[in-house]
This record gives sequence, structure tokens and C-alpha cells, in this order.
Amino acid sequence: MGDGPRLTILVGSLRAGSFNYAAAQVAESYLAGKVDVSWPDLSLVPFFNQDVEELGDPPTVLALKQAVAASQIVLIFTPEYNFGVPAVTKNAIDWLSRPFGNGCLTDRIVGIVAVGPSSRGGENVREELLRICGTLSDRVYPKTLGIPRVSELVNGRLPETAESAVRLWVDEMLVYGKRWQGATS
Ligand SMILES: Cc1cc2nc3c(=O)[nH]c(=O)nc-3n(C[C@H](O)[C@H](O)[C@H](O)COP(=O)(O)O)c2cc1C
Repeated sequence: MGDGPRLTILVGSLRAGSFNYAAAQVAESYLAGKVDVSWPDLSLVPFFNQDVEELGDPPTVLALKQAVAASQIVLIFTPEYNFGVPAVTKNAIDWLSRPFGNGCLTDRIVGIVAVGPSSRGGENVREELLRICGTLSDRVYPKTLGIPRVSELVNGRLPETAESAVRLWVDEMLVYGKRWQGATS
């Protein structure tokens, strides 16, 4: 692990052809060489259960928490399900919110992206995540990125306009995050 800035990517879709996963890959490649990126596999994280927590965090949860604790920035790429946050995304956040009042999202710069086929770019999930993450960190980037009308990947990639939108947003998010440079506990 290098000494440079670190970032964790959370992808709230487990689908092989996920548009959100593809968007996260754009961000990861764009940041390569500038930021150390961790990408925990959320399919391995069990459902939050307070009984399990009391026995000690399972290894995959520990790894998730350690990645976020070592990062200054957390980027969430998530679909919208039923006008809200999908279980995979919410489950990761629930673990990261613990222990209550002292979760490792505290002081993290949090960026939120939603990609999907609808014309509204997952505005409900983005709004809901702004509210949820805003209770866990006071460094949530208020400008979320919604990428609407994505209906297919071509050779595993989003349309070029969507990829450009991700890169531009990442640049803006990094500028937003600069105000806390060196200030993450
Ligand atoms: C259970 C379920 C509920 C969905 N609900 C919504 C929704 O409320 N709003 C929306 O824009 N898309 C909705 N969709 C469509 C998803 O946005 C779409 O499948 C998207 O591609 C999922 O993201 P992914 O490609 O990263 O897997 C839903 C899909 C599923 C499977």
C-alpha cells in the first residue's frame, strides 16, 4: 500500500453486465497512478446482523471497514431499485455506519453516482443516499452524478458521453475534496 491518497469504490450492483460497475471502472482507470483504489467485493459482505456484529465483524466486513478507514474518499456507484437504495448498497453502508456515531465513513469525502436506463438518472437513489450519507459524514459531495438512458454496454463499456461525464465528475469531486487535504483522521 502506497502513502498517496486512497479511495474506496463501492458498487451496489452484483450483475455481471452492470452499468454502475462499468462506470466505476471508468473512474478507477481515470484515477490510476494518481490515487490508490480499493474495491471491496460487496457480494461477500453478509447481511447486517447485530448478533453477528456483537460476536465480532466477519472478515469481509473487516476488510470493507479497513479499506474505507484507510481512504480519504469513498465513491458509491449504485442502481436505483424501486425508487430507492438497493439492498447491496444499503447493507454496505449499514456495516460502515457502525459503531453507531463512530463509523468509518465519518470524515470521508463521499461521492454518489447512479447509472440506469431511466430518463432521471436514478435521482431518487441519489437523493436518498445524500440524506443517508449526510448523517454519517459531513463531507458528502453534494453534486451527485446521474447518468440516464443507458440501455446497453458495448464491449463492456458505457457510451463515450457517459464515460466523459464520469471523468468530469471525478475531477470536480477531487476539487471539492481538496479543502480537506491532510485532514482525514
Ligand atoms: C428490482 C429492480 C427495481 C428497479 N427499480 C428501478 C427504479 O425504481 N428506478 C430506475 O430508474 N430503475 C429501476 N430499475 C432498473 C435499474 O436501474 C437497471 O436494471 C439498472 O441497469 C441496474 O443497474 P446495473 O446495470 O448497475 O445493474 C430496477 C431494476 C430492478 C432489478
